[in-house]
Amino acid sequence: MEPYRIKVVEPLAFTTREEREAALKRVAYNPFELRADEVTIDLLSDSGTGAISADQLAAGMQGDESYAGSRSFYRWHEVVSELTGYPHILPAHQGRAAERILFSSLLRPGTSVLSNTHFDTTRANVELTGCTAYDLPCAEAKDLDSDFPFKGNIDLIALEQALENADQTPVAAVLMTITNNGGGGQPVSMDNLHRTAELCRRHNVPMILDAARFAENAWLVTQREPGYAHRTPRQVAEEAFRLADGCVMSAKKDGIVHIGGFIGLKDAELAERCGGLLIATEGFTTYGGLSGRDLDMMARGLLEVTEPAYLAERADIAGYLAARIREAGVDIVEPAGLHALYVNAGRLLPHIPPHQYPGTALVCELYLRGGIRSAELGSLYLGEEDEHGNPVKTAPYELVRLALPRRVYTRSHYDHVAATLADIAKNPESVHGYRVTSQSPILRHFSIKLEPVKSGD
Ligand code: F0G
Repeated sequence: MEPYRIKVVEPLAFTTREEREAALKRVAYNPFELRADEVTIDLLSDSGTGAISADQLAAGMQGDESYAGSRSFYRWHEVVSELTGYPHILPAHQGRAAERILFSSLLRPGTSVLSNTHFDTTRANVELTGCTAYDLPCAEAKDLDSDFPFKGNIDLIALEQALENADQTPVAAVLMTITNNGGGGQPVSMDNLHRTAELCRRHNVPMILDAARFAENAWLVTQREPGYAHRTPRQVAEEAFRLADGCVMSAKKDGIVHIGGFIGLKDAELAERCGGLLIATEGFTTYGGLSGRDLDMMARGLLEVTEPAYLAERADIAGYLAARIREAGVDIVEPAGLHALYVNAGRLLPHIPPHQYPGTALVCELYLRGGIRSAELGSLYLGEEDEHGNPVKTAPYELVRLALPRRVYTRSHYDHVAATLADIAKNPESVHGYRVTSQSPILRHFSIKLEPVKSGD
């Protein structure tokens, strides 16, 4: 059961099918453009969408809003130092701000960053520095159905080759995303992290963690990795941070706060460069774009997030939804992780070709039938077309991410999600595809406009 009871509630927004049809048409079939009060169950993101605890709220009331050197900063700093072990810690307002500041200070044009998988903003921030971002996911990640426990791993052979052949494009950093959000929310093993750290040390390249879901990764390590069953998630997390040369963190995930992030570093000189940029673009080094209240709430969230009872229930409720979805005959990326389930829309809707976006078709159908908001992770997110709409690049898989906000929805909410998917699975041929009517050149999925492709079109 949930290791908490509910003290404050917020009403759900219920709409009619006609209202949802009108809303979806108005936003040109792009769920990012929907108003939240048009959505009943919002699984668009697990980022900044969690429920804070009474203790976090109380900590927030202690917030010290002094411009510099606030008590909140020092309380927060102690928590982050003890968790990560990094001597240099800088607050930032969210993960991508931390990325921008670290990458602008660390990367040079013409170099490359290697990763198990870059998250989309992370890739964008690497590329904005003139550096190239390469994803080297392990081979096991390609089989969506297998039970391989650590599909978030980096391909160590490919990594070693890239590090050894770095004459043309020097490798500026290796970035390990834990858990691997772009790769199905799959965890990275400690063995993989240790071996990656060793390769990085040998080639004198810094290893940076994208630690947004460090606690969920640590939990999955305690559950799946030989030798870690008797360790606490906190101990595993501490080990992971100490293996790396630094981290970027979006605390909107495993900080269980609505806003917040940080950079942690071992290198004093690099930290000083980041600090200068932080002051110029985010705020003084003791607040980094956050209020004292935010820092105190993050500090408390970072302690709560590694509690075994919290993580066990988070895994359990994700497993509950995964089981209901499988019962409905719908496939997800296996094994189920914690922060999201990734539905195999390509397999559910095989009659829709990639350039008519099966993932988007499922996203729209979940909204139309159940008022559920989700995100496409397929050819709309990763693909490209020419100016005539002909596909130039399609994604390897057509997925839909059902992100699970922390401590927000209960099993009956997830029963509704599974029932809606089951309803779609009864008659998948009735679902049609979409075509693009307008798009922007970078991160197109946020602002894209689409229209339905009806049979005979
Ligand atoms: N890294 C990872 C792995 C992420 O998943 C995200 C955000 C970021 C960095 C950027 O952090 O949002 O605080 O600036 N992921 C959200 C998501 C948006 O829905 O997966 P941010």
